[in-house]
Amino acid sequence: MDYGMSNRLSRVMGPGRAVMLAVDHGYFQGPTTGLENLRRTLTPLIPYADSLMLTRGALRTSVDPEERVPIVLRVSGGTSVLKELSNETLTTSVEDAVRLNATALAVSIFVGSDNERQTLANLSGLVDEAEGCGIPVLAVTAVGREMNRDARYLALACRVAAELGARIVKTYYCEEFEKVVDACPVPVVIAGGKKLPEKEALELAEKAMAKGARGVDMGRNIFQSSDPVAMIKAVRAVVHDGVPAGEAIRIFEGGKVPPAP
Ligand code: R5P
Repeated sequence: MDYGMSNRLSRVMGPGRAVMLAVDHGYFQGPTTGLENLRRTLTPLIPYADSLMLTRGALRTSVDPEERVPIVLRVSGGTSVLKELSNETLTTSVEDAVRLNATALAVSIFVGSDNERQTLANLSGLVDEAEGCGIPVLAVTAVGREMNRDARYLALACRVAAELGARIVKTYYCEEFEKVVDACPVPVVIAGGKKLPEKEALELAEKAMAKGARGVDMGRNIFQSSDPVAMIKAVRAVVHDGVPAGEAIRIFEGGKVPPAP
């Protein structure tokens, strides 16, 4: 592996485990709850994130260029929640990603959907170009409304992503998650999914790490928390320090800003 690729992968994955903060939701659902004012939500979280996953528009407007946090740039999209989400194209060129100093690129694939071929072509075409610049591609195994999030399906989707050249795969946690990880030859990180009570979200991270995930790429369960900074600190404790969720919840509760009198 060339130096640039190795360096970027290590910047995103850290010493082997990663807490990636996903704030790219606006690319298909507009002003997502908690991200209405992206800069306001994001700024206090940046010191605790190993990387940020977001679009170029969000990066330009809401992250100061002096920030040193690695950027995982979301480069697929083109459809909103008002239409068929799987009908994605590439929305940002590799040239612009280089200009923005992206550390990695993120693209969704919709395996099993009517747009499977198109989204897999998005991934493989992007890999062809990004690899030439030493930039790793992270594939997001997005799940269509009709798809089951079970180990059989997710293992298939993750393996396809890795075989097409993704250097990191992001997927959902499921029962028998170890089968998903075992069949995927590149690091797997999990999405958090819909907002859960904080303890449950920490348990999700704990289970995923125990079953071989290399980290989380978590969004709503951090930025929609009653205290996002306390929550990302608790998530870091689970992912980086192996703190059980039952103890990490105390980090969250201890870090909560008390309500105004
Ligand atoms: C979805 O395709 C986006 O990449 C989100 O960033 C992703 O779902 C992770 O966010 P969350 O933890 O909110 O599910």
